[in-house]
Amino acid sequence: MSAIRFLTGITPSGTPHLGNYVGSIRPSVQASRRADVESFYFLADYHALIKIDDPARIQRSTLEIAASWLAAGLDPDRVTFYRQSDIPEITELTWLLTCVTGKGVLNRAHAYKAQVDKNLAAGVDTDADVSAGLFMYPVLMGADILMFNAHQVPVGRDQVQHIEIARDLASSFNHRYGEHFTLPEAAIEEAVATLPGLDGRKMSKSYDNSIPMFASSKELKKLIAGIVTDSRAPGEPKQVEGSALYQIYQAFASEAESAALRQAYADGISWADAKEVLFERIEREIAPMRATYVALMADPGKIEGILLAGAAKARKLSAPFAARLRHAVGLRNLRSQAEARPEKTVKAAQPTFKQYREADGKFYFKLADAQGRVLLQSGAFDSPKDAGQSIRMLQSESASALAGLGAWVQRADGVTPDDVASALAQLQASALSNQA
Ligand code: TRP
Repeated sequence: MSAIRFLTGITPSGTPHLGNYVGSIRPSVQASRRADVESFYFLADYHALIKIDDPARIQRSTLEIAASWLAAGLDPDRVTFYRQSDIPEITELTWLLTCVTGKGVLNRAHAYKAQVDKNLAAGVDTDADVSAGLFMYPVLMGADILMFNAHQVPVGRDQVQHIEIARDLASSFNHRYGEHFTLPEAAIEEAVATLPGLDGRKMSKSYDNSIPMFASSKELKKLIAGIVTDSRAPGEPKQVEGSALYQIYQAFASEAESAALRQAYADGISWADAKEVLFERIEREIAPMRATYVALMADPGKIEGILLAGAAKARKLSAPFAARLRHAVGLRNLRSQAEARPEKTVKAAQPTFKQYREADGKFYFKLADAQGRVLLQSGAFDSPKDAGQSIRMLQSESASALAGLGAWVQRADGVTPDDVASALAQLQASALSNQA
């Protein structure tokens, strides 16, 4: 079974609301528990700089969003949960990608184009209010995705173009410098409907119609009381079609519960009672998480520690990968030329694959790190050729190939997937430097 790598970023620009919970946080936390999924979630704080110039707001939002994801059940031991700005390799990769990005591609990117169109309509300079950051936004996002070779990127429809741009950048880079990047795909959750807000339009901070995910019970009740309904009196049958209240209920309720409310509508439930039903249902799901959220918000140091640990985990992948990319483009240690000369300089120790035959007549291999610790042990192969083929797969595709080899190749006790990934990355980097 090969693990699919999911990666998604959340821009810390505000306070999470129930629409974010239903549309992104809840499905992502669920997906992160799947055995066949390896997830990367991060706070895209460099992206926040593009639209927010209030430092305190970025800091506050980063804290709130991190606390919300953790309270919703994201397990930082299971996933890689980090803050973009803790990974310097991302900005470094942004530049490498910038140099393979056609300016014309960025001219056509929606976020930039929307501002240009607005300027044209207003009869002002086309680039009024356009920072180079806004223009470069898709490249930074491409670096986020390609740095970790994500396969699937769960995003809203508005972000699909950015994933396409990331694919294009990956192809251009691979074309020039060899196969380094996986081509990512957008994963759009068709099943998740967008949640309506208090006024019936899509719940969004910019419409000022949202319900904060962790409003207190009292606030939640008050906000729900403000959901727009029609003027039907108690006792009059009501319609679920077009009822924001009903749609919000559906996003939390089981099918049976939704059917019961639908019936109650037909039977003439009062709007006040329907709102009470909605309040109780949301409260049932959110209240236990709220307690965790409140505790986390009171302990920012704990969240900081979790994010830093996540960054350390992420950098085990990004640091060796960035080294390999630097080498690929020609940002190289000048000594590597001397190393290629016959007068032999001492080579740094490298991880190694060892192929061997056992008394049973079968063929096996091991991967050991530079210090000689065994990282991987293969099962039995009938021929040396088969064993060699698996080794080559591991060498070329690294950690994702390991998942493909499944039970055939086992990690030794105490060895983490990151240990393996970094040894493989080291081997790849040195293979590249030998070619040079
Ligand atoms: N731009 C995305 C948004 O505003 C956030 C984001 C940044 C992102 N980097 C990403 C999403 C990488 C997915 C993958 O929603």
